[in-house]
Amino acid sequence: MAQRLPVLMNKKPCYDIVFSKSFEELCEELAALDIENRRICIVTDSKVNEIYGEELLGLLNGKCVKVVKYVFPEGEQNKNLDVVRALYQFLIEEGLDRKDMLLALGGGVVGDLTGFAAATYLRGIDFVQVPTTLLAQTDSSIGGKTGVDFDGYKNMVGAFKMPKLVYMNFSVLRTLEERQFFSGFAEVMKHGLIKDVAFYEWLIENMYEICERDLDVLEEMLVRSCTVKKLVVEKDPTEQGDRALLNLGHTIGHAIEKAKNFELYHGECVALGIVAAAYISWKREMLSMEEYYEIRDMFVPFYLPISVDGINPEEILALTKSDKKMEAGKIKFVLLKKIGKAVIDKTVTEEEILAAIKEIYYSEEDDYE
Ligand code: GLY
Repeated sequence: MAQRLPVLMNKKPCYDIVFSKSFEELCEELAALDIENRRICIVTDSKVNEIYGEELLGLLNGKCVKVVKYVFPEGEQNKNLDVVRALYQFLIEEGLDRKDMLLALGGGVVGDLTGFAAATYLRGIDFVQVPTTLLAQTDSSIGGKTGVDFDGYKNMVGAFKMPKLVYMNFSVLRTLEERQFFSGFAEVMKHGLIKDVAFYEWLIENMYEICERDLDVLEEMLVRSCTVKKLVVEKDPTEQGDRALLNLGHTIGHAIEKAKNFELYHGECVALGIVAAAYISWKREMLSMEEYYEIRDMFVPFYLPISVDGINPEEILALTKSDKKMEAGKIKFVLLKKIGKAVIDKTVTEEEILAAIKEIYYSEEDDYE
């Protein structure tokens, strides 16, 4: 029996997150959304399509009025308005109307782009999320943030649009490319750090099983991680306050992601950004030195970076200022008051940010000193 977490909006049930070991229960879940009388367009990328595209098409065939599939080339560089435009054209050609539905099958890029198309096509049609990466399962598929990148700025154009269902087949994590899996783990760890110290400690205790991708442990990890995310987005769906806590590690992380031209994965940059934020928290005596080093070193067994080369710290600082996480010209920085409790701080200075970037900056010259 699949586990489920209901997500509320304004204290009313909005959609369920379903955790399952396979895709078998997807049709049953979709039946509750009346797909019998609707057309469905599966939206996916070229990589995910090769693995799961035909399986999903086969599952849905005969269960709805019509099922079609739109496939775009994989990669963050395709999360843009040109692909959204091509998708609109496809939906028009296939005759999808306001009662029909999109199904996002894939990682964060697919989910964000499909959600944005669903939010805007015919002023909004339903969509469901079927996330297939750890990053998408633990973070981006929940909470209704949708959007695309614009002129090199991440998620610059978007909308809040809640899915009708998030269906997670967590078995797919067992075959996920290793680097993708560990990149997603950075967001899992983030959820423990910002809100749930017991979960953070559980992650340390279960390090071996997580790395081995034990299915029962993965299920518990996902349910606990998604519970943190659910509670945060229920309280603040449109990021007027506490939802910004989910941006721990993202201010410096996004800047590194951009400076490195997306050569590092999102979660890898988030891990670096979390180390930098924990460093500032230590220097402000919010965390002890031991806690700072414990957080930093916790990433190592998960093959996540704790230092980065080939960057210019001054350039990273400048890029943090062009990120979206600004309010009235001030950076909304997320710090750790303690492990399991994050706070938003608008007083972090450029000097503090620069010192934190230098802390995670690794220069080859260091080897010769
Ligand atoms: N990934 C951050 C958020 O959903 O707000």
